[in-house]
Amino acid sequence: MGGQLSPIDKAKFVAAKQASEYVTSGMKVGLGTGSTAAWLVQCLGEMVREEGLKIKGVPTSNRTAKLARDVGIDVIALDEAKWLDITIDGTDEYDDELTLIKGGGGAHLREKIVATASDRMIVIADASKKVDTLGAFPLPLEVVPFGLPITQNLIAETLTGMDVLGNEVVQRMQGDEPFVTDEGNFILDLHLKRIGNPRQLSLVINQIPGVVENGLFIDICDVVIVGHADGTVTTRDITNDTSDVVRFEVLDDENIFSDMAD
Ligand code: A5P
Repeated sequence: MGGQLSPIDKAKFVAAKQASEYVTSGMKVGLGTGSTAAWLVQCLGEMVREEGLKIKGVPTSNRTAKLARDVGIDVIALDEAKWLDITIDGTDEYDDELTLIKGGGGAHLREKIVATASDRMIVIADASKKVDTLGAFPLPLEVVPFGLPITQNLIAETLTGMDVLGNEVVQRMQGDEPFVTDEGNFILDLHLKRIGNPRQLSLVINQIPGVVENGLFIDICDVVIVGHADGTVTTRDITNDTSDVVRFEVLDDENIFSDMAD
């Protein structure tokens, strides 16, 4: 990062920093995937290395597992952890009810399994992720490769009866090849523009046999922590019905986690 953080990275960093204060020794912690979650993993790694924090981390993707090990976090599998104290992850969108769209990084299946196996889920975000109505961000579906055209047709048919504005279904690619998830599946991105009834859509979409899981997180997230480029962080806890604002000093020339440069 050349010692200088972009405004968006500052926002993500301070959100992650605030979220790291929820983590204490002895906890089993679900570690999210994506650029915001990567800041959290870095913050926790620093606490492990420099403050003696003792945690077990359960990563939600292979890339988070690598990063967590690299920064010194003791990584265990979800099967070994069985249940987690907390999961902290990023999001692509969130609304007032803390319903989320996740999966922009293609990891929402493991992310949802891990978050659901946790006492609490905290989402960390910059302010751009807040929406009045979900759906501007395309909704990711993890689908099995077998019978993909049939699944795509069934999804298109299903969308005609739903409270959505768009109906484009696009297979996610990585260069010229289909994007493949850590579970060996494909991703279809639904360009819905507006999701009028996320709960209904989630239930109906998950009924289609080839669909493994959609990226809507409903009644899973308890707390949202939003970072701003000036160092301000707002926390909203919907379980306890509390809100809170703090401010971190992030010096412009501060060289935070220089190993995140790329
Ligand atoms: C990964 O599959 C996603 O759910 C990410 O958590 C989400 O896309 C947020 O990513 P960023 O923090 O990179 O925006």
